[in-house]
Amino acid sequence: MTRIQISGTGLFTPKEILTNDELVNSYNKFVDEFNIENEDKIKTGEIEELQKSSSEFIEKASGVKARYVQNKSGILDTKFMRPLLRERKEDELSNLAEMGVIAAKQAIENANIDIEKIDAVIVACSNLERPYPAIAIEIQNALNIEGFAFDMNVACSSATFGIQTIYDMIKSGSIRSALMVNPEICSGHLNFKDRDCHFIFGDVATAVVIEELKEVPSNSNSYEILSTKLYTQFSNNIRNNYGFLNSSSPDGVGKADKLFHQNGRQVFKEVVPKVASLIKEHLEKNSIEVTNIKAMYLHQANENMNRLISKYILGHEASRDFAPIVLDEYANTSSAGSIIAFHKHNNSLKKDDLAIICSFGAGYSIGNVIVRKLG
Ligand code: COA
Repeated sequence: MTRIQISGTGLFTPKEILTNDELVNSYNKFVDEFNIENEDKIKTGEIEELQKSSSEFIEKASGVKARYVQNKSGILDTKFMRPLLRERKEDELSNLAEMGVIAAKQAIENANIDIEKIDAVIVACSNLERPYPAIAIEIQNALNIEGFAFDMNVACSSATFGIQTIYDMIKSGSIRSALMVNPEICSGHLNFKDRDCHFIFGDVATAVVIEELKEVPSNSNSYEILSTKLYTQFSNNIRNNYGFLNSSSPDGVGKADKLFHQNGRQVFKEVVPKVASLIKEHLEKNSIEVTNIKAMYLHQANENMNRLISKYILGHEASRDFAPIVLDEYANTSSAGSIIAFHKHNNSLKKDDLAIICSFGAGYSIGNVIVRKLG
């Protein structure tokens, strides 16, 4: 039976930190400007007066204290309110490939794998910079990897879906190993003019090397993948209508629905029990008692959500060592969230400890991966 391992992970963190206070000050300045500009329409009831945001609300509702971003000045400029990124020439690395390559190099180094042994590259993320050529092929080229590469998008669950895709390809014998990269410039799909969600996301890139496990290493930071489980169910509660047909319907161009929007309360209510039951079923199917799990690296969307998921699974609150939180520092980084938690906090695991990496998000989509520490 082919055994498969995660042999290395990597993380690229942008240089610029954007705190809640900075974000809220700029949002509130935009609100003042908007309300003054639209005073007459607000008086007649034609449009609604905008309400101010608050750092206290953001931290209490989400657990987010700050986020890293690729560009802060554009986001904080009340006349622009989006990251300002230099357009890349066709002979330069694209924005996503550039950050992805940095995370990938770290994952390859941590895996201690020769480039010649990597047979495929998958970019698995929420927002791709262009339709084609694939960002994954660009990264493959930048790293001199032979074989094939492709992009895939399952929103916040892209990484776990990517892990199962690679796991299945190695199991079938079509490849020996692969690199998965999760570059996320979430600030690019975020509506910084929307009080309900302007604080949610941050930017980052993660990478994971997955390969066939031939010999159990005596002392290494590798993890055998014991089982994976994926689930999707259609929902409009998290949606982004941006796409290549937008310009064919000019009336909709630039409208708020062409950015991330959600019905946050519904998402919270519907996704928490689904994630908890999927994890429980997956453990049961593998005859693993919940008490034998030593850590849960959950998707980082909302701290209250993660706390409740852990409680449904364990029957009591989880400690931060057991279910690490990185969204206070990184915010929601979509597909990369659970991989950041795993990358930064797996040092608490000992040989043979079992853990899970779980993601959930738009679609809805949920993915769970059960791993066992080797070496
Ligand atoms: N600053 C201050 N107050 C705000 C605010 C802001 N930025 N945004 C909303 N509020 C107010 C609302 O107006 C509302 O006021 P009211 O009670 O007087 O009507 C109150 O805060 C509660 O708003 P609500 O939207 O119900 O907040 P919530 O507690 O549900 O938290 C989310 C909002 C989005 C943080 C939460 O629903 C959530 O995280 N859901 C999960 C969604 C998710 O993770 N999506 C990503 C999926 S990968």
